[in-house]
Amino acid sequence: MPTPPILELKNVSKRFTGVTAVSGLSLAIYPGQVLCLLGENGAGKSTVIKLITGVERPTTGELLIDGRETQLTSPRQARELGIATVYQEVSTLPLLSVARNFVLAAEPSKGWGPFRRMDLREAERLALESLRALGISRVRDGGQLVGTLSGGERQALAIGRAVHFGARLLVLDEPTAALGVRESATVLRLIKRVRARGVAVLFITHNAYHAYSAGDHFVVLRRGEELASFAKGDRSVEALIELMAGGTELKALLDEDDAFGSLGV
Ligand SMILES: Nc1ncnc2c1ncn2[C@@H]1O[C@H](COP(=O)(O)OP(=O)(O)OP(=O)(O)O)[C@@H](O)[C@H]1O
Ligand SMILES: [Mg+2]
Repeated sequence: MPTPPILELKNVSKRFTGVTAVSGLSLAIYPGQVLCLLGENGAGKSTVIKLITGVERPTTGELLIDGRETQLTSPRQARELGIATVYQEVSTLPLLSVARNFVLAAEPSKGWGPFRRMDLREAERLALESLRALGISRVRDGGQLVGTLSGGERQALAIGRAVHFGARLLVLDEPTAALGVRESATVLRLIKRVRARGVAVLFITHNAYHAYSAGDHFVVLRRGEELASFAKGDRSVEALIELMAGGTELKALLDEDDAFGSLGV
């Protein structure tokens, strides 16, 4: 039997008072696959994340985990089922060390009861090992403050931590939005490395080039509805750009500029 998707949405809608944020959406995310979710502002991307991570419940439709219909009632439950979310900045604490950040949620401990304390050396070893596995070798000191890491390194720490503590589906909400070209490339490489380990990734982005370079499958949302859903290779990156809202509008704007240019304005 083929592996079931880790997570599947079937005909899911989410209505808030006065607005349908997601409408009739179906998608499936498989182990070792990167699914990119794209769409303009307000298209419904964050709402999809909230449904998948147990923050909100669908108004109608089904959510399946490992092929079984599941009602997610809290983010904690989603985490226990292996669904981890990494946000751009808030996922790590800048004033704590690399090692302490790595074990924030689950500290390896020494001793028992009142003598329990965090084993920082073990945390440091785990953190540096996990960073190296993701291709980040410039961080050598687990005592370094996270605030002094680059954006890409910080993402690597948050992603490595999630995977170490059992994430099977990693949800990345705009991980490259605030990063420059090189840092973005680092994060796109991280995504590929995590995928190679069999983890599923839901990659939310505005950037069609970033999506296309790291993704296996693409779902484009417009006003909560699926505008397109296709596998890499079925359409070009240019087609993806066209599909994203603004593609045609931007082109019109550029043409307008050309017209102004030729008038010498
Ligand atoms: N709790 C809520 N109550 C009412 N309306 C909401 C709520 N959450 C989201 N919406 C609306 O649902 C629509 C989709 O919002 P959502 O945040 O999912 O979009 P998005 O694709 O993440 O946008 P962005 O790219 O700007 O982050 C928007 O019109 C938004 O105003
Ligand atoms: Mg959003």
